[in-house]
This record gives sequence, C-alpha cells and structure tokens, in this order.
Amino acid sequence: MFGGAGRRFGLNHCSSKNKNLRGCEATGSRLSSPGKRLLFFFCNCSGGTDPIRPAYCKVSKSGAAPFFRGKERGTGRGEGVQGTCDDASLCKRFAVSIGYWHDPYIQHFVRLTKERKAPEINRGYFARVHGVFQLIKAFLKKTEGNCQIMNLGAGMDTTFWKLKEENLLPVKYFEVDFPMIVTRKLNSIKAKPLLSNPIMELHSAESLLIDGHILDSSRFAIVGADLRDLVGLEEKLKKYNMNTQLPTLLIAECVLVYMTADQSANLIKWAANSFKTAMFINYEQVNMDDRFGRIMIENLRRRQCDLAGVEVCKSLASQKERLLSNGWETARAVDMMELYSSLPQAEVSRIESLEFLDEMELLEQLMKHYCLCWAVKGGDHLGLCEITF
Ligand SMILES: C[S@@+](CC[C@H](N)C(=O)[O-])C[C@H]1O[C@@H](n2cnc3c(N)ncnc32)[C@H](O)[C@@H]1O
Repeated sequence: MFGGAGRRFGLNHCSSKNKNLRGCEATGSRLSSPGKRLLFFFCNCSGGTDPIRPAYCKVSKSGAAPFFRGKERGTGRGEGVQGTCDDASLCKRFAVSIGYWHDPYIQHFVRLTKERKAPEINRGYFARVHGVFQLIKAFLKKTEGNCQIMNLGAGMDTTFWKLKEENLLPVKYFEVDFPMIVTRKLNSIKAKPLLSNPIMELHSAESLLIDGHILDSSRFAIVGADLRDLVGLEEKLKKYNMNTQLPTLLIAECVLVYMTADQSANLIKWAANSFKTAMFINYEQVNMDDRFGRIMIENLRRRQCDLAGVEVCKSLASQKERLLSNGWETARAVDMMELYSSLPQAEVSRIESLEFLDEMELLEQLMKHYCLCWAVKGGDHLGLCEITF
C-alpha cells in the first residue's frame, strides 16, 4: 500500500497557481545591446527564454506569489527560490520532449507549456544533466554502490528513477527540499504508478511512509527540510537512517546560490564534518562579476528572487575555495563551455542536429556563466580523487 497517514492532496493544487510564480522564476531573456544580441539568464541557474515583459512577472496584489505560504511569505525570498524548481523541471521536460536525453519520469512532475525553449538553453541543460550524471555514475562505480546519495534542493529531480532503471541505486538515496516542494512531489508520486512502482518494488514492508512532506522507504527518502537549518536537517536525515559511515555523495544543483555565503559555507562544512568519505557536487553560476552576471542579478532581484550567495560565484577559483576552506580536501571546477567542449563527439553531433542554432556566441555566453564543481574528502582507497566527468 502506498499511503501512510492517508492524507490526500489535489494534484492540480500547484499547477494552476504556479502560473502566478512565473515572475519569480523568470529565467532568460534576449536583450538588444548596440548591434549585438546578448542572452541573459535569470534565476534557476539555467535559463528560460521569455522576454522580459510585465505580464510575465505576475504576482498577487500583496506582491507575494500565493502558492508559497511558508514562513517566508511576504519577504519574497522563499517564494522566489521555491519557484525556481518549476522552471528547472519545465526546461528539463522541454529538452527531453525533443530528444536531448531520455527521461520518461520528468513528464509526470511538470506539464509542458506552449512555450518553446531556445536551442542554447536546451544544450545548456543537456550539458548540465550529462555532467552531473557522469559524476554520479563515477562515484557509484568507485564505491560499487556501497554508498548513499543526498540530493540537496532536489526539486522535481528524477535521478532516483533513472538510477533504478539502470540498476545503479546506492544503499539509500535521499532528497531534501522545502516541505512545500516535497509535498508537491509526493502528490505526483502517489498519483503516477510509473513513479510509485519503482519505489514499491524495492520496499520490503507492506506499506511505506508518505506523510505530508516525508517519504521514507528502504532505498529512497524524500525529506522536507530547510537546508539552512542544519540541526533540523541532521535530525530528520538521522530519523530516516542516514548512515554517516557510508561513503556519501552530496549534490547541490542550482541550490547554494539561493543561500547567503555563510549559509552555504555552513552546509558544505556540515557535509564535510558528517561523513568520513564523501564527495560534493555543486552546479551553479560562475563569472558573475561581469556585465552579463550583473544584469542577471538585477533582473532576478526585480522578480523577488535574490541570488543571496552570488558573491561566491565570482570565479572558478572562488567556487573551489569555498569547498577547500570548509573541510574538503580536493576540489575541481570547470565552466560549462569547457565541459560542453569535452562531451563525446557522437553525442554532441546528435544533439546539435536536433535544432538549428544560429549564434554560437549565445551558447558560449551562457555556458561560461555556469560551472560544475566537485570536491572530495577521504576515500583514498576508493580513488575518489580520480573522479572526473
Ligand atoms: C533551481 S531549483 C533546482 C532543483 C533541482 N536541483 C534541479 O536541478 O532540477 C532549486 C531548488 O532548491 C531548493 N532550495 C533552495 N534553497 C533551499 C533551502 N534553503 N532548503 C531546501 N531547499 C532549498 C528550491 O526549493 C528548489 O527546489
């Protein structure tokens, strides 16, 4: 049985109201600068394509997006940040729908809209998903699956299902996000057998726990928690059998930038101190000190979505330094253009034939403002330091 406390939530609960959030998630725009088109990406670290227009930034009269009524309602901050998960999943769903990569699960978390995403955005997402997944698979290979994975700020991420499909699951896979986001994700899981069956197949007991903003099963837990509250986070993870002795991979894909530099440093330090053998993957903005970056920050701020931790996103060096000064032994970072350039040629040819892209410069602008970083501590015997994408 898939029930727990038996509370039911309407699945349409979020989809209609979320339209009001689009302003907070606005992710991309082409602006004309003298003689030159530039692509500016906002929020969510990944980009959408909507031009900046007032209607796009539709919020309630109070100025707060009505769906997110958490403790930060009215500050604009929590609302905008939580709303970024919709845009990430929508961009991923769009790219999947035109064949960039295989993911039969994402369609169950987000509805396709009429809006098309630009080719450079789709390619950006392809590189992001490919890069992160390569690192995850490398960690699983080195540890032979005798490990746990914690996806921090997971939103509607589908990695658990993709790993299950490839028979690559770790001992336990954890996801953490704000309780409101988790509740939405659980609603989709409860309603869609394609999502719930893989969890049930792995679970020995007759029923598993799904209660409001918690799912706990033998191999998969989804936990509603605020990543800035480390005492609360640790308490919840321990309750759902986090094992600090197991090699642990922590993933933060477009998440840290929404916290202050101190808050993300504390989270990174907590991760390093909690596990003897661990790896941390961070994907987010970089090179944000230039004009492109400053415009991105300003546009987001106008949409009530503050990149509170953007000061760490100055350079690849500042990204690595945050990891190294908070307990991690080695750290590497590449911008996404470098990663894109080293993708397997056959894959690049395949995805580049899906859609025509007239201006490579736009792609480069985008890719140079995002990076993939990974850090390791312990695990010499496993060769974790050798991991690369
Ligand atoms: C841009 S989305 C990315 C979602 C997912 N990682 C992906 O790449 O598809 C950022 C996610 O981080 C979550 N998040 C940001 N700050 C958080 C915090 N303090 N505690 C928990 N979740 C947080 C948001 O709710 C959102 O789901």
